[in-house]
Amino acid sequence: MIKNDEVEIEELTYISTPDANAELIKQIDSRNDENQHGISPFLYFTAIVGVFLGIDPHLVILDPEDVRTVLIKDFNSFVDRGIYMIKTDPTTVHLVSQQGPEWRNARVKFTSVFTSAKMKMMYDAMKQCSTNMIPTLDDSAERNLDVDVLDTIARFTTDSVGSTILGVECNCFMNPDAKFRRLGKHVLEQFTLMDMTRLFMTIYFPRLAKELRISNVQPEVSKQFSKIIKDTVEYREKNGLLRKDFLGMLIQLKNSGVQMTMDEIIGQAFLFFVAGFDTSATTTTMTLFELAENQEAQDRLRKEVISTFDENNNDLTYESLMGMKYLGQAIDETLRKWPPVASILRVCVQDYKFPGSDIIIEKGTKIIVPVLGMHRDPDFYQDPLKWNPDRFENRNQKLPAYFPFGDGPRNCIGLRYAYMQVRLGLATILRNYKVLPSPATEKPLKIHPDTFLLRFTQRVHLKFRKLH
Ligand code: HEM
Repeated sequence: MIKNDEVEIEELTYISTPDANAELIKQIDSRNDENQHGISPFLYFTAIVGVFLGIDPHLVILDPEDVRTVLIKDFNSFVDRGIYMIKTDPTTVHLVSQQGPEWRNARVKFTSVFTSAKMKMMYDAMKQCSTNMIPTLDDSAERNLDVDVLDTIARFTTDSVGSTILGVECNCFMNPDAKFRRLGKHVLEQFTLMDMTRLFMTIYFPRLAKELRISNVQPEVSKQFSKIIKDTVEYREKNGLLRKDFLGMLIQLKNSGVQMTMDEIIGQAFLFFVAGFDTSATTTTMTLFELAENQEAQDRLRKEVISTFDENNNDLTYESLMGMKYLGQAIDETLRKWPPVASILRVCVQDYKFPGSDIIIEKGTKIIVPVLGMHRDPDFYQDPLKWNPDRFENRNQKLPAYFPFGDGPRNCIGLRYAYMQVRLGLATILRNYKVLPSPATEKPLKIHPDTFLLRFTQRVHLKFRKLH
């Protein structure tokens, strides 16, 4: 196991030699607890290693060039992710889990929903949601309370995804127990023993789980979400309601002859809901955390934000928001140090010979790209645990190993949406508040070892001081 002060990558406990790829894998003895950067020591020995996740062998690709080969150049041999889905539960069938031609068809349909033009259409509704944060943050500032930042930002991103994607008002600030906030928390944070058992079955015994029709989404979440979407679509169709949100675009696609069933709409809407609120909330939270620790950077960023508002008559247009350079650098550096999706998955779909070697990767082999480990590797980033937005000063300079949104034809489809949402949240906060560290946050932050999405073992609290 590799340990360091911030990361404990539990899976590596099981490093050994998977039978399937015996010639590939070297037993790594020289793991070094003093190394502070995740998986990097392996680079000194080999660029591809094997690990067991439970009983399942995986290949871990450590050389960024090999990563690009898998994700981009020879993508056709590594199209799938191998994530469990079961058709009897529509919330499990979506872009992340779909495979082969089914995924390709869906990806083509949804690409048109995430263009810059569509983002602009959603901008005003999202901006409105960002201002919903202010009364709650004002109250905390006035009373000098600690703010649970991830929870607060997740309310904003849930409101925003609700409004721009599902076309529903979530009111997460007016009502802390709002239905969608509850659903969001439930799906990512609340698992009964039964839910854990089901999840375990779908990961380690997927064939049996399929036969038993087990889902990896909690049944109550699936039931409630499916009902909300079904009712909303039916209501809109019956009343001829045309809205510019994402659901409206799906209904339009469906009615323009593109084949799309209600189950398909439910699955994709569910994914966009979960992917849309959580990863952006983590990115915004971690940028604020770093800015609280780096007051100089915070002042510099606030200057940029305030002068952008001033230049636009105290408003923020889509173009002016997206044009702020240092804001972009700060977010990109957060995505490097704290990538919300810590590893990327692929499955080899046809026997594949690795270029320049005799290595054959067999069809069915599961691949992991350890994004977090690479982003913190001192071979790629000097002083990797230092948060330094100046690394991203030159936008044209290609970074050696940077994959926060994956890469290639199956990269994150919501990238533009995410940047817009994170920029908006940060600009709104920095214009109104000075953000300070709180003694309530235990440091250093520790990444939770068991989760696929970035989570911490403690809550992130900060203090907000009103500026004017
Ligand atoms: C900062 C925020 C986000 C981060 C860091 C992020 C990261 C990622 C990563 C690493 C992947 C896997 C890429 C790969 O396998 O190569 C992914 C896939 C995906 N993301 Fe995001 N994501 C973010 C926000 C969003 C948002 C806002 C949405 C939708 C509203 C979204 C929708 C998706 C979808 C649908 C996929 C699967 C794409 C496919 O398989 O075709 N993501 N994301």
